[in-house]
Amino acid sequence: MFYSEDIIEEVRSRNDIVDVINSFVSLQKHGSDYTACCPFHNEKTPSFHVNRDRQLYHCFGCHEAGTVYTFLQRYENYTFPEAVKYLADRAGMQLPEHEMTAEEKRLSDYNQTLKDINKEAATYFYYMLRQEQGSAAMEYLKNRGLSDETIHAFGLGYAVIGRNQLYQYLKSKGYEDSVMIDSGLVRFDEQYGPSDVFWNRVMFPIMDLQGKVIGFGGRVMGDGTPKYVNSKETRIYEKRRHLFGFQIARRSKREGFILCEGYMDVISMHQAGFDNATASLGTAFTIQQAMLLKRYTTKVYLAYDSDSAGVSAALKAIPILREVGISARVISMRPYKDPDEFIKAEGAEAFEQRIRDAESSIMFEVRVASEKYDQQDPESRTEFQKEIVRIVSVLKSPMERDNYIESIAGKYYMDRNNLTEEINRYGKYRTEREQYEEAVRTETPQEIRRREQSESRKKQPQRLLLTWLVNRPKELFPQLEGKITPKDFSDTFLQELAEKLYAQYAASGAVNPALLINQYEDLEQQTQAASILQTTMKYEPSPEDDAKTITEIVRKVKMESVKDQMEHLSDMSQLQKLMEIRKEIPKWNISLDSC
Ligand code: GTP
Ligand code: MN
Repeated sequence: MFYSEDIIEEVRSRNDIVDVINSFVSLQKHGSDYTACCPFHNEKTPSFHVNRDRQLYHCFGCHEAGTVYTFLQRYENYTFPEAVKYLADRAGMQLPEHEMTAEEKRLSDYNQTLKDINKEAATYFYYMLRQEQGSAAMEYLKNRGLSDETIHAFGLGYAVIGRNQLYQYLKSKGYEDSVMIDSGLVRFDEQYGPSDVFWNRVMFPIMDLQGKVIGFGGRVMGDGTPKYVNSKETRIYEKRRHLFGFQIARRSKREGFILCEGYMDVISMHQAGFDNATASLGTAFTIQQAMLLKRYTTKVYLAYDSDSAGVSAALKAIPILREVGISARVISMRPYKDPDEFIKAEGAEAFEQRIRDAESSIMFEVRVASEKYDQQDPESRTEFQKEIVRIVSVLKSPMERDNYIESIAGKYYMDRNNLTEEINRYGKYRTEREQYEEAVRTETPQEIRRREQSESRKKQPQRLLLTWLVNRPKELFPQLEGKITPKDFSDTFLQELAEKLYAQYAASGAVNPALLINQYEDLEQQTQAASILQTTMKYEPSPEDDAKTITEIVRKVKMESVKDQMEHLSDMSQLQKLMEIRKEIPKWNISLDSC
């Protein structure tokens, strides 16, 4: 790891988790915890808990959990070193300089290297746009109506004519060929050697949430093909997870986001004052992007192209947005092709009006459907009505359904009662169908549930024991000596967690859950560990009852462990010993002084 454990812990301890999370998500005090609606999934009642004593957070809905570091990695997409840096700055701490060479440091964080090289390339393109060689590119951008300010704000640039100009430049900055190739900026040809991927194009840097360049789109100047060349995916550039212009849009004061199709659309919208515009990265809109938007808003305006490709892209984006709890509205660009053309022709004022007139996603879906059918032909009209039924039945709330039925019936001259009846029948049909499909699966739902329950039932005492150890370490650790070791935990993950916990107590005479979780690099593991260590025990009214409970847990864990060892015995002489232990276990008693 980049920083020593001591430093990581020091930085963590100087940043109270409640204060840090509260600066992103507004928390309410609730008993001993602070709560909010979970920023990681869609919900209406708060199940996201932050606990000051343990310095951990946990969502009882989606089971997202961890330390202040985990939170920043998840919420802000920081890497671990970035999270450390952020919190050190926040606490006014100076992080120590490393005694590593430049080369070692680079290797130690390859993601950072990839960001560095992208930044270097962006700087180079930016510079070239302003040189003599870049004059045609600058003219192209100006002709498209972009101001100097906009060109600067989006860091636009120019990749010069030449086979490997960027390659030579990056080489002079000390980058290895392999890094350049991994970054997607350079490709290697057996015959011709290294060559630039981008060549004589205007360059659009693509940035992450923090504004770090992670890739590029390069547009041909004029009508050549391909219109765009885009960076390939790399370790730092996953197209499904990022959005163009989002580093700016996420800080916008405007309501919701405007989702466009093209880079040029986004840039043009921002220039016109709609700085909440963003776009997917030349690929279809994804659920990950929807979740990213959902962190900031529940409202998205679709400003897709008005052609049939744009309409079908919108029809695909709507259910994805709905899935994460975002209600989409569709802005009409007609008679223009896209937001860029609209803004140029009609201006910002007219676009504001289009936002106000935006159609709800349901009405949009119905209207698009209506255009496929001949309303004068009874058969065709029946098909249309069936399609309406399918569209409206995604709505769960009867009230919402009813309101839409009323609008649709009014707009398309249909009988409201007929529609209602059909929709109710369709909903019923669907659930029966689902039941049928569940029934023909090889493993029935009951069987699946039973299997999962029995697996988790076996681990439950182990999880509980760890939770108890965190809650009452001083009383329990001494009593477990000679009885339970980390080896008694059958599950590898729980075993490792137990090892860490035992080691920590042995070294310091106390347990510190957040410090322990720091030791996991993997975010999933941090989450799993935190959900166990963060659980607050519900104590029984009397210490005697608590003692009974923990005694029961300890006996169960050991009994399972002994059984397990007996089943996997390699050496018969051990059997005798195990049988003796098995006889002893029911006599074990754990006592507790007080709460
Ligand atoms: P203009 O035509 O200059 O207004 O560009 P635009 O950015 O608005 O692009 P357009 O609406 O044609 O396409 C939408 C998005 O699809 C672009 O921003 C690119 O991300 C992507 N795209 C368009 N053409 C290509 C192409 O030829 N190759 C690739 N890989 N992506 C493309
Ligand atoms: Mn366009």
